Amino acid sequence: MNLKDILNYRRAVRLYDETQPIETEKVRECLEFAQLAPTSSNMQLWEAYHVTDKSVLAKLTEACLSQSAAKTAQQMVVFVTRQDLYKERAKAILEFEKGNVQRNSPSERQAKRIKDRETYYGKLMPFLYRRCFGLLGWVRKIMVLSIGLFRPIVRQVSEAEVRTVVHKSCALAVQTFMIAMAEKQYDTCPLEGFDSKLVKKALKLPSDTEINMIITCGIRKEGGIWGERFRVPFEEIYHQV
Ligand SMILES: Cc1cc2nc3c(=O)[nH]c(=O)nc-3n(C[C@H](O)[C@H](O)[C@H](O)COP(=O)(O)O)c2cc1C
Repeated sequence: MNLKDILNYRRAVRLYDETQPIETEKVRECLEFAQLAPTSSNMQLWEAYHVTDKSVLAKLTEACLSQSAAKTAQQMVVFVTRQDLYKERAKAILEFEKGNVQRNSPSERQAKRIKDRETYYGKLMPFLYRRCFGLLGWVRKIMVLSIGLFRPIVRQVSEAEVRTVVHKSCALAVQTFMIAMAEKQYDTCPLEGFDSKLVKKALKLPSDTEINMIITCGIRKEGGIWGERFRVPFEEIYHQV
C-alpha cells in the first residue's frame, strides 16, 4: 500500500474478529516506529503500555466503559504522558547532544553550541516543565509577558499550556503508531472514552502520569466500521495564505 492507501485503510474499528489474533512482535514494531514521531524539544515525555495479558485487557475494557472496540480487542496500547520525567529526559538529551556536537560540528563552534545546549536542556527545559500547583506557570507567564514587550517569545508557558504541549507530542506518536499498524493491515481504534483512574489502577501507574489515549488493536470484523467516513469539505479546513 502507498501512503494514500494506508491512510484510507485506517479507520476507527469498533468490532474486531476475535478468531484472528495479531502478532505481538508486529505491534511492538509499530511502537518502535511510533518512537520516530517528533516531540517538542525532543523531550519524549511519553510511554506506551502494550497490553496483551487477558486479565489486564479485561480490566481495561471495563475502564473503557465496555465499549465494543475494547471488548473485542486482541491487544491494547495505552499511551501515557510522563511530564514527571522531564529532568531525566533533559539530562539524557544533553548528554547525547554534547556528543552530537562533538561529532558533527566544526571544532571552532563546538564550545558555543555545547554552552547553548547546556542552557536549553540544563536550565530552560527543567524550568519550563516543572510543576508546582499552577504557581510556577504564573511565574513563567509574568516573565514571558515582560520579555514579550520587547521581542517575540513563546507564550505557552503556563502549567496547563505546557501539559498540552506534552499531550500534543504524545498524540503524534499515537497517530504514527496507527498508521504503522494500518500498513500491516492491523486495525485500531483510538479511545478517550475511559475512566483514567481505573486505567491507572489496571496498569499500576504513578499518580502524576496522564493517559493520553488508548488504542485498541485487532483485525476488523464485518460491521466493525460504522458506515462511511465523514469529513467536512476540505475547503473548510484548508486556508492558503
Ligand atoms: C482523541 C480521540 C478519541 C476518540 N475516542 C473514541 C472513543 O472513545 N470511542 C470511539 O468509539 N471512538 C473514538 N474515537 C474515534 C473517532 O470517533 C473516529 O476517529 C472519527 O469518528 C473518525 O473516523 P475514522 O477514524 O474512521 O476516520 C476517538 C478518536 C480520537 C482521535
